[in-house]
Amino acid sequence: MANSSGRRSFVNKVVVVTGATSGIGLETARRFAATGAKVVGTGRDQERLASLAKELDLALTMDVTDETSVAIATAAILKRYKQVDVLVNNAGIGLFRPWEETDIAAIEKVMAVNFYGAVRVARALLPALIQSGGVLVQVASVAGRRGYAKHTAYCASKHALIGWSESLRHDLAKTDADVVVVCPPAIRTPFFENAGYLTFEADHPGLATMPPVEVANEILKAAMERPDTAILSSRAKLLDALNFVSPVLLRKVQAYK
Ligand SMILES: NC(=O)c1ccc[n+]([C@@H]2O[C@H](COP(=O)([O-])OP(=O)(O)OC[C@H]3O[C@@H](n4cnc5c(N)ncnc54)[C@H](OP(=O)(O)O)[C@@H]3O)[C@@H](O)[C@H]2O)c1
Repeated sequence: MANSSGRRSFVNKVVVVTGATSGIGLETARRFAATGAKVVGTGRDQERLASLAKELDLALTMDVTDETSVAIATAAILKRYKQVDVLVNNAGIGLFRPWEETDIAAIEKVMAVNFYGAVRVARALLPALIQSGGVLVQVASVAGRRGYAKHTAYCASKHALIGWSESLRHDLAKTDADVVVVCPPAIRTPFFENAGYLTFEADHPGLATMPPVEVANEILKAAMERPDTAILSSRAKLLDALNFVSPVLLRKVQAYK
C-alpha cells in the first residue's frame, strides 16, 4: 500500500476486520471482500463466524480482551498471508448509564474491549502494517471527540483510543504506514441492545442515521484516502465544529440527552 497505485486498489490486499460478526464490522468486511481483497473477519460468536467463513477468505475466533486469543489469531494470519495491508480495529461494546451506575468494574469492562483490545490487536499487527506501508483504521466514535450524557465509560474508552492513535501517528511518521480514526455517529446495529440498556429507537427518538453499509463505504474510503480523521455525517461534523467553538452551546443543542 506504500505507493499510490497500491492505494487505488485493494485487490489481493490482506484486510483484517475485528468484530466482523455483526453490524459495522460485518458490512465493512463484506465491502472490502467485494473489492477483491483477501478479508479476514474475526469475532467470538462461533455460529456467526461459521456463516462469515462462507463469505470471506477467512473467519477466525479472536477475543480482543484475551492475550492468548489475539496471539493465536494474529500468528495464524501472518503465517497464512505473510502480510497485512489494512487492519480495521472495529470490535467494540457500549455502556450507557448514569455515572452513579457505572462503577470501576464496568469502566474496566468497556476499556478492556474498546481500548486495550484495540491496542492489543494493533500492536500484534503493526510490524506487518509498517512492512507493507499499510493502514490502521481505528473505529472510534463521535463519542471519542466529546462527552455525552450517560456515556462516561464509553466516551472514556473512545477518547483513549483516539489519544493512543494520534500519538502512534507521530511514532509512525518515518514509515509508510498510516493511522486513520473513523468516527461514526449513532448507527442502528445490535450495539445498543448488546449494551443492555435501551434500543436504538428508544435512545435516539427521531434521529436519522446512516445504515451500517454506508458506514462500511466510508471506512473503505478512509482506508483508501487515509485522512487523519473521518467524521461521518455532516450533522456530526457540525456538532464537532460547534464543540470546538462553544462546548457550552453544544451541550444545549446536543440532541442526545
Ligand atoms: N452502532 C453505533 O451507534 C456506533 C457508533 C459509533 C461507533 N461505533 C463503534 O463501531 C464498532 C462496531 O459497533 P457495531 O455498532 O457494529 O456493534 P455490534 O453490532 O454490537 O458489533 C460489535 C462487534 O464487536 C465484536 N466484539 C465485541 N466484544 C468483543 C471481544 N471481546 N472480542 C472480539 N470481538 C468482540 C462482536 O463480535 P462477537 O460478539 O462475535 O465477539 C461484534 O462483531 C464498535 O467499536 C462501536 O463502538 C458504533
